[in-house]
Amino acid sequence: MDESFKTIEFIDNTLILIDQRLLPQKVEYFLCKTFLDIEFAIRDMVVRGAPAIGATAAYGVYLAAYEFQSLEGSQFEKKFDEAITFLNNSRPTAVNLVWATKIMKEKYESVKHENKNRVLEILLHLAHTIKEDDIAINKELSKIGSSVVPQKATILTHCNTGALATAGWGTALGIIKTAFYENKEIFVYADETRPRLQGARLTAWELQQANIPSTLISDSVAATLIRDGKIDVVILGADRVASNGDVCNKIGTFMLSALCKMYHVPFYSAAPVSTIDFAMKSGGEIIIEERDAREVTFIGTEQIAPTGFNVYNPAFDVTPHAHVTGIITEKGILRAPFNESIEQLRISLQK
Ligand code: MRU
Repeated sequence: MDESFKTIEFIDNTLILIDQRLLPQKVEYFLCKTFLDIEFAIRDMVVRGAPAIGATAAYGVYLAAYEFQSLEGSQFEKKFDEAITFLNNSRPTAVNLVWATKIMKEKYESVKHENKNRVLEILLHLAHTIKEDDIAINKELSKIGSSVVPQKATILTHCNTGALATAGWGTALGIIKTAFYENKEIFVYADETRPRLQGARLTAWELQQANIPSTLISDSVAATLIRDGKIDVVILGADRVASNGDVCNKIGTFMLSALCKMYHVPFYSAAPVSTIDFAMKSGGEIIIEERDAREVTFIGTEQIAPTGFNVYNPAFDVTPHAHVTGIITEKGILRAPFNESIEQLRISLQK
């Protein structure tokens, strides 16, 4: 069963994004006609979630090529490369962004001898493919991941990893939906996910639409539920997985993983292979995005902290691989020792 909304759609040379800043109170769409619009949409979190950011950025690369099409040779390439760098810097942590822009750039390099219209056609086709593939990958990953969900399981999830965070269907939330449609009689606790409240605003909205029995909790409730044996499994997403299995994900993930380790609750991260950064040796190398203090000092338009008070607002944290039970991908579930299972995956992808 698919969602009634589309996260990302490309019509009439315009990328149409459901505006995630306004959900669930308002369902409105944000139109991107230029690569600058795309950069803004990613940076301001009109669109968010690693795979959704990747697919959006792919269209950004196409729109940059479209905008600069009247420029010749090296002038075009200079502007095109600048646009890609600009897109890459819009949010630094989710690897899917640079993964998608790199594929687009490599495709450009391989077809640039063709006439300009043909090059644009090929780039647009590739952006569509990245988006469509993401949906298929999520469905595959969800089928595989559902195997870790026991009958009648109570699942805890964090942030939003559903159709909104991807081109469609979702990763961790995709697994949860799949288990539900397989009649597993599950129950879900969704963390509100301070400070941007992706859990309260987006996951709760998606769970409600799918009619999945669920309850919203403030982030600090998770410890009590886990200690009291109320959670059978934690399943959440990833923004970047290092080659040793360290998982970078929404701030608060590390804290959950430590609780799971302490109370022997299985802890799974769900991520498409495009979220694995094979070049990164460990999570310590990952650049963690720090966001505006206003996300913490305000709730919506309401100021809650004293004006001028210092704020530390990292958007992500790194969970050490020793806390991770498994990383669920479309190619199977990676397990410890992660440096070996991830290396085997890397080799199999090259064949
Ligand atoms: O800051 P966000 O909302 O982009 O962070 C999203 C997450 O951390 C998700 O867990 C991750 O991107 C996986 S989405 C399938």
